[in-house]
Amino acid sequence: MKICNSIEEMRGACRALRHEGKRIGFVPTMGALHEGHRSLVRAAGDSCDAVAASIFVNPLQFGPKEDLGKYPRSFDRDCALLEEEGVEFLFAPTVEDMYPAGSATWVTVEGMSDKLDGRSRPGHFRGVTTVVAKLFHVVEPDAAFFGQKDAAQLAIIRRMVRDLNFPVEIVACPIVREADGLAMSSRNAYLDTAQRKQAIVLYRSLLRVKKLWEGGERRAEELIGVGKAEIAQEKSVRLDYFEIVDPENLDPVSNVRDGGLVAVAAFVGATRLIDNLVLKEAVALA
Ligand code: PAJ
Repeated sequence: MKICNSIEEMRGACRALRHEGKRIGFVPTMGALHEGHRSLVRAAGDSCDAVAASIFVNPLQFGPKEDLGKYPRSFDRDCALLEEEGVEFLFAPTVEDMYPAGSATWVTVEGMSDKLDGRSRPGHFRGVTTVVAKLFHVVEPDAAFFGQKDAAQLAIIRRMVRDLNFPVEIVACPIVREADGLAMSSRNAYLDTAQRKQAIVLYRSLLRVKKLWEGGERRAEELIGVGKAEIAQEKSVRLDYFEIVDPENLDPVSNVRDGGLVAVAAFVGATRLIDNLVLKEAVALA
């Protein structure tokens, strides 16, 4: 695996691959890689000729009181994982390279960026779309792979790609979970033993809603009520939001149909975790 630290080097390497007629799959990350990230790299490898990845802890998407300074970093271990999965190029730029002094251009998906996590983390999605647009310009991938774990991020990136005509196919990959159901996240590393146990309540609340919906309940208010009540069972977990939305535009729905996105965010101690699931009608066997 070739590690490219500069924009020119990465752009040159990816262009050379494309000139060989190779379809490039791209997996952007902030490092501290886990099995969720690995699944994206595998999906990219399965449908593309070459895989490029990036590790960049993007300061633009962190609020002033958030965890930029202590975000977990494990570059050598990350490189080993990516190498093991056959990644050809890793882009690991410096902050100065990505955002030279005087940078003044932002990419914002208006409206959607203020929903779900965007409401609790003002400016977060503007930072995400700005960096992802820049990364796409450097790598010029044919396809880019994102986790359903960050469902709002995925919807916003899809909208950006559509609105700005990026020639990139956006591929969504399923959430990878720990054995007990906790969605894998780099931020799980912040949890102590007691908090790690409490954190499962997020997934449990989603499953409660799913069960009720599968039993025929369609009123969002009722479904959300049950989800919130489950979170409230865990006294030391503080709910940020519990919503059921249209997965394309992130607008709340009142009557929950097939494909509705149930999304939750909550603080376990000081750690903010998110999780979600998409409600699906059982497919009748012919
Ligand atoms: P990061 O949190 O490192 O996540 C990188 C990618 O891995 C995202 O697409 C995310 O949805 C996916 N991912 C994380 N946990 C997952 C899990 N348990 N199962 C499946 N996929 C999972 O998301 C970001 O970085 C940044 O915002 C980024 C897009 C790189 C822009 O800076």
